[in-house]
Amino acid sequence: MKEILIKGQLHKFQTFQAFAEEFQLGARDLLFTNEFVYTPFMKELGLSCQVVFQEKFGAGEPSEEMITDIFAAIKEDSYDRVIAVGGGAIMDIGKLLSLKRTGTVHQLFFKEAEVVPAKKLVAIPTTCGTGSEVTNISVAIVRDENGDTTKLGLVSDLLIPQDVCLIPDMLKTLPYAPFASSAIDALIHAVESYLSPARATMTSELYGVKAMELILEGFRRIGEGGPDARLDYLDEFSTAACYAGIAFLQAGCATVHAMSFPLGGTYHVPHGESNYALFGKVLEKYEVLKPEGKIADFKKTIARILGGTEADALKNLAALEETILHLKPLREYGFKEEDIQVFADSVLANQQRLVTNSYVPLTKELIQEIYAECY
Ligand SMILES: NC(=O)c1ccc[n+]([C@@H]2O[C@H](COP(=O)([O-])OP(=O)(O)OC[C@H]3O[C@@H](n4cnc5c(N)ncnc54)[C@H](O)[C@@H]3O)[C@@H](O)[C@H]2O)c1
Ligand SMILES: [Fe+2]
Repeated sequence: MKEILIKGQLHKFQTFQAFAEEFQLGARDLLFTNEFVYTPFMKELGLSCQVVFQEKFGAGEPSEEMITDIFAAIKEDSYDRVIAVGGGAIMDIGKLLSLKRTGTVHQLFFKEAEVVPAKKLVAIPTTCGTGSEVTNISVAIVRDENGDTTKLGLVSDLLIPQDVCLIPDMLKTLPYAPFASSAIDALIHAVESYLSPARATMTSELYGVKAMELILEGFRRIGEGGPDARLDYLDEFSTAACYAGIAFLQAGCATVHAMSFPLGGTYHVPHGESNYALFGKVLEKYEVLKPEGKIADFKKTIARILGGTEADALKNLAALEETILHLKPLREYGFKEEDIQVFADSVLANQQRLVTNSYVPLTKELIQEIYAECY
């Protein structure tokens, strides 16, 4: 079994300034970020980089249209290195900005244009979620062949950033809602990769379990001390999200992400929150359909971390998550009954890279059952 750890260099800095000095940021660097991240951490440094703010091109997660506009605004020959500083959305667009523009954005995502790296890429996450800083995926909202919007991952090892810099200090301005959504996303990466039947390896398991331990300890602190308890634990959350990224780079994500992508793509539910809406039910189905095997080990691990019995592990996990983020039925996001059928078809048509990692075979009937129970 091939064990890819991380392709790039992993660094940790106390401040953005320390990073900027070490990496000698200059005029041929493209700093792609958000203004509200730039202002508190970078503005006063007087950097000579080309600075571009994502929000100038629309709000929310990357879409085909947004990325097309960004490409049009930033000349391909105007920079040699991309410094992507932000959440998963920023890092995923940063990955695309590091490529040669071999076709349209649509062609890239539908594998009709080649992925050819052209610029160096430095990824600096300011949420504690996606692990995008170490992964080989860029996710965007695209239109499929029926004209419906969904989220699709462009996957290539050529997208992995050369340098990953963790600066946990930059998470201190992250508001509680995106913090909670991104931390739950990281937990789900750790769990999905741990349960991945064919691709989990000794390294993915090591990183996945460590990520679960760190995140659940953080959740316990927040459950006890309230949302501000996260502020003394940002280093651990940031490290855990990166570990979970390393785990799923290796072992892949699965059912939860596959089923969440049409939900996120259609109703613009934040990524971590749309995963969370499905996570508990997916685990329950796994437990019912295949109680022996990895799910039993997983419950043992959760019982070890949280206390309580193995039999109650999923229930205790759900109760702890509820203290972080309230679980809502899908209908509260706009999901309609007819989506059960349409989304199930979309999952099978567009998300095979994730479907194949499901802990139990993912049939259309099972997908529909899970959506119906979360509805
Ligand atoms: N490439 C991958 O491996 C991968 C994996 C999972 C998800 N994703 C993608 O990542 C995106 C989700 O990423 P996310 O959860 O990090 O959310 P995000 O990038 O959408 O950011 C969430 C919000 O927090 C704000 N924000 C980020 N950092 C901040 C800071 N330090 N201070 C103040 N505000 C801050 C952002 O501007 C945004 O409004 C989705 O598009 C998802 O599809 C990618
Ligand atoms: Fe995710």
